[in-house]
Amino acid sequence: MKNIAVLLGDGVSSEILDSAIKVLNKVSDVYNLKFNYNYAPIGGRAYDEVGVPLPDKTVETCLKSDAVLLGAVGDWKYDTLAPELRPERALLGIRKKLNLFANLRPVKVFDELLNSSPLKPEIAQDVDVMIVRELTGDVYFGEPKGITKKRTLDNREIKVGFNNMIYDEDEIRRIAHVAFKAAQKRKKRVCCVDKANVLDVSRLFREVTTEVSKEYNDVELSYMYVDNCAMQLVLNPKQFDVILTGNIFGDILSDEASTICGSLGMLPSASMSSGNTPYMYEPIHGSAPDLAGKNSVNPIATILSVAMMLYYSFNEKSACDSIYRAVKDVLKQGYRTRDIFDKNNTELCTTSKITDLIIERIR
Ligand code: IPM
Ligand code: MG
Repeated sequence: MKNIAVLLGDGVSSEILDSAIKVLNKVSDVYNLKFNYNYAPIGGRAYDEVGVPLPDKTVETCLKSDAVLLGAVGDWKYDTLAPELRPERALLGIRKKLNLFANLRPVKVFDELLNSSPLKPEIAQDVDVMIVRELTGDVYFGEPKGITKKRTLDNREIKVGFNNMIYDEDEIRRIAHVAFKAAQKRKKRVCCVDKANVLDVSRLFREVTTEVSKEYNDVELSYMYVDNCAMQLVLNPKQFDVILTGNIFGDILSDEASTICGSLGMLPSASMSSGNTPYMYEPIHGSAPDLAGKNSVNPIATILSVAMMLYYSFNEKSACDSIYRAVKDVLKQGYRTRDIFDKNNTELCTTSKITDLIIERIR
């Protein structure tokens, strides 16, 4: 029996989680696995229910589970709340509480969606990049931070906002190991992406990554500045195998890279700890409040996140593969949600319809 914490968030969360759980139930039948779901609120939903975005009980539910599945958090209606009550704070909080320092974001283009990519098919075809994003450090968590006041030379009092971009060498070392190990199972190339021409913290990131690379003689290490990487991802994304980067650069580059696949609605992610706390799985897209309740959101990112869960948390490789195959088959036969719909030879599907089509194909 595997216990899965299911964190209900905002916007389209309940629809995409419904789809993901239907898929898990089918996997459970076909592969004779038992899943038990423990639901808990997070984000705006938790704020509405109990007054905080990340209730202790939700954290406890996660800690007792074997894996965590998360929808998404955030809604404009919470935009005026104090920073510590905002839904996004819950996401950062749960990552920190579960010590999920390694975020894997695979960017793999399905041939069937080449027409939905904004890049030319010959550039997008066969792109297969793994972004390894550090997730519990950097300017996201660095202290000191805040908004205070200062005096200008002409004696005016003005506001000043600041965050601290900071990594220590232990934090860099452990994420670098994750990247090199991932590369060993792939094309054996790691590109360290940073801003070492300007930032001291990036100089250290490079230095420690270089040191760690000596333990992985079979993996080739290269370096790239983040601004150049943003450009290379659209010029020639095939040059990348594993991209190793910090929290904020990884956040930005993964949204950019996702569009290569045709839609943000296609990208899953896995967030991992050093093993003593459960891993968490979530689509990389947000809560899309404007789509909520319309049965039109693309559930594939969440369904593929479940596939990653089966692979990384439960070591169920064939179940994972069967989900990928089912998704590919559905796309091949021309079924599309709105975000990936193209007028030529495809059929527009609702969230529940495409989910059912995927489920039928899991065997
Ligand atoms: C992501 C999201 C989050 C992040 C937000 C919602 C806090 O953009 O998972 O990429 O910045 O990490
Ligand atoms: Mg993001």
